[in-house]
Amino acid sequence: MNYRKLGRTGLKVSPLCLGTMQWGWTADEATSFAVMDAFMEAGGNFLDTADIYSRWVEGNDGGVSEEVIGRWLTDRGNRQQVIVATKARGPMGPGPNDQGLSRKHIIDACDASLRRLQTDYIDLYQTHSPDGKTPIDETLEAMDRLMQQGKVRYIGCSNYKAWQLMQALWASDRAGSARFDSLQPHYNLVNRAEFERELADVCEEYDIAVIPYSPLAGGFLTGKYSREGQTDSARADGIKSRYFNEAGWKALDAVRAVATETDSTPLAVSLAWLLEQPSVTAPIIGANSPEQLAGSLAALSVNLSEEQMAALDAASAWK
Ligand SMILES: NC(=O)c1ccc[n+]([C@@H]2O[C@H](COP(=O)([O-])OP(=O)(O)OC[C@H]3O[C@@H](n4cnc5c(N)ncnc54)[C@H](OP(=O)(O)O)[C@@H]3O)[C@@H](O)[C@H]2O)c1
Repeated sequence: MNYRKLGRTGLKVSPLCLGTMQWGWTADEATSFAVMDAFMEAGGNFLDTADIYSRWVEGNDGGVSEEVIGRWLTDRGNRQQVIVATKARGPMGPGPNDQGLSRKHIIDACDASLRRLQTDYIDLYQTHSPDGKTPIDETLEAMDRLMQQGKVRYIGCSNYKAWQLMQALWASDRAGSARFDSLQPHYNLVNRAEFERELADVCEEYDIAVIPYSPLAGGFLTGKYSREGQTDSARADGIKSRYFNEAGWKALDAVRAVATETDSTPLAVSLAWLLEQPSVTAPIIGANSPEQLAGSLAALSVNLSEEQMAALDAASAWK
């Protein structure tokens, strides 16, 4: 794999990051281990998780994905080879301080993640989404403190609007403290405006790494959904309500046409399009099996021509 720099930092990450929201939800522990093994064997070195994964599953209080990764890191003895990214912000308990981005919650959440991950440092610690009730200076000071203590190596954020990211950069600059070196936005061929409208320019201008989540629109861009057809995915209802519309089908039709031209798959073409975006560092893929992972890894050998990129851009245009 051709490793990429994480924004302005010296850290090298694989061009695909493996998301682990599926662990303890749609992938059991044995399957999760098999997918992570296959990812590492293919040259991947970058894992994304969050303390809250997968708290929406009945009987799961959160932390399960981190626990699975912790057991895998210990079992495989490969902690030094893996770049582990996790996040805090979501509710991890019933108390008023069990969530958010206050100094208290960030410090408590980091210690809890370290325990679950069975490690003494997190490579990339991210705020999962903004917390309008906590001053950004307090959040950044707490994260800077974790870096000084050696518990965290780099910090990033997710789901920030352009003004919020600018406000955070500005606050770090003012305080002379650590700054967000990565952004995790929701960005794919059928959800472009949210990132492209303003965030893309901010990230390019300030050399902030971009690690887009849901690069396949939760599975829609694999091409397994059709106007008439059904799939047995646990995510089918959410995908139908979000992407079963004319704009979604138009983009998917163009993806299918390019897949035919390149003797590839809609999945690989969708990821290849994202990998070509100048601001993108590493899309965060999701896989429920080694076979699904192989489908995503295939994107690394797809080369799209200028005409094919233009056709995909036109079919998914939002301006
Ligand atoms: N920061 C945030 O707020 C946020 C939000 C969401 C996700 N994330 C991160 O991003 C990661 C990826 O998100 P995502 O899972 O939504 O990504 P995605 O790549 O858009 O969707 C992955 C889903 O597509 C389907 N799929 C993948 N490969 C396939 C194949 N070869 N054939 C058929 N179906 C296939 C699988 O779903 P089925 O098999 O169930 O259909 C899989 O769970 C997460 O694990 C998490 O780390 C972050």
